[in-house]
Amino acid sequence: MKTLLSRISLLAAALPLLSSPSCKDSGGGPAATEIVIGEVAALTGGTATFGQSSHAGTQMAVDEINASGGLLGKKVKLVTEDDQSKQGEAGTVVKKLLSREKAVAILGEVASGKSLEMAPICQKAGIPMISPASTNPKVTEVGDYIFRICFIDPFQGTVMAKFALSRGWKKVAIVTDVKQDYSVGLSDFFKKYYTANGGTIVSEQSYSSGDKDFKAQLTALRGSAPDAIFASGYYNEAGLMAVQAHELGINAPMLGGDGWDSPSLTQVAGKAMEGNFFSNHFAAEDASPVIQDFVKKFTAKHKSAPDAMAALGYDSMMILAAAIKKAGTTEGKAVRDAIASTKDYQGITGKITLDEKRNATKPAVILTIKDGKFVYVETLAP
Ligand code: PHE
Repeated sequence: MKTLLSRISLLAAALPLLSSPSCKDSGGGPAATEIVIGEVAALTGGTATFGQSSHAGTQMAVDEINASGGLLGKKVKLVTEDDQSKQGEAGTVVKKLLSREKAVAILGEVASGKSLEMAPICQKAGIPMISPASTNPKVTEVGDYIFRICFIDPFQGTVMAKFALSRGWKKVAIVTDVKQDYSVGLSDFFKKYYTANGGTIVSEQSYSSGDKDFKAQLTALRGSAPDAIFASGYYNEAGLMAVQAHELGINAPMLGGDGWDSPSLTQVAGKAMEGNFFSNHFAAEDASPVIQDFVKKFTAKHKSAPDAMAALGYDSMMILAAAIKKAGTTEGKAVRDAIASTKDYQGITGKITLDEKRNATKPAVILTIKDGKFVYVETLAP
């Protein structure tokens, strides 16, 4: 029979565990003093600037949250996994974040194809996932635990189609990266609005992520004498395409979507990118105080101005933190419900309200490339 003393000491030993909301996590999981958030980002590979930027923004939010006391009395720990921009890898690393790290929520990815890999895994696990920047509509259609804080491509495609028509460009050639859900979707949505409103698609060309030679596609589309070229893929290929278009004597302006947003775009393309246009979530030169404060903070820390992914990464973490605070717990369903109720949250990338499909409706900006810099042209509201 146990003595009273040993009973008391057993009870005393158990008390700190019992009083801690995350006692279930003891023994291998996160420390009871931490809330683990998992992040999947392309830190290396073909879309590395996406992951590096979104991670920088996300980490900055985490640092600010921790500096002001953390969440629910605990520190936030951001565990980031690099998917190397590889298809297949995002699914593998998100499983690791859930099973090994016991992440209570997932942030990422930027590229739609990667988010589409991660979403079914988070949905099945009952762990909320917020993509900062994936714009393909299918991402949040996976299920009710999957959110995004950016606009979607039916809107972005329409924005660029409207822009082309407003410039009097009646004939457009489209070049699509068939390996990216993002590019395939964006080309499609552009085409729908453009052709329904008087434009003609004079040539449709395709390539695969990682391709470096676009001469065959460009030669083919040159014959159709387009007024503009819509290149719906990511920055590396768009940059190379611009260089080769110039070499082939094609002077039609090139148009793109948010996938062009990278400091590498002009590094790859140099002068060949001048005068082209793309749609985006954010313009660093926007004079609004919210944006300028963020630009100042970010630039002081990273010695370069934030791009859209940095701002979206920051907003995604802040929205998640607000939801965890509101839920008062890190339990999946409660956090999911709190994220779903996000309304009029003033982020760096605009006011964020999540609709019943877990998407945000926000304006887009159009930027042009001038003297190697991204320069604001106009804002288009939904
Ligand atoms: N919207 C792109 C996608 O869904 C990713 C992206 C967002 C790229 C923002 C750049 C800036 O794949």
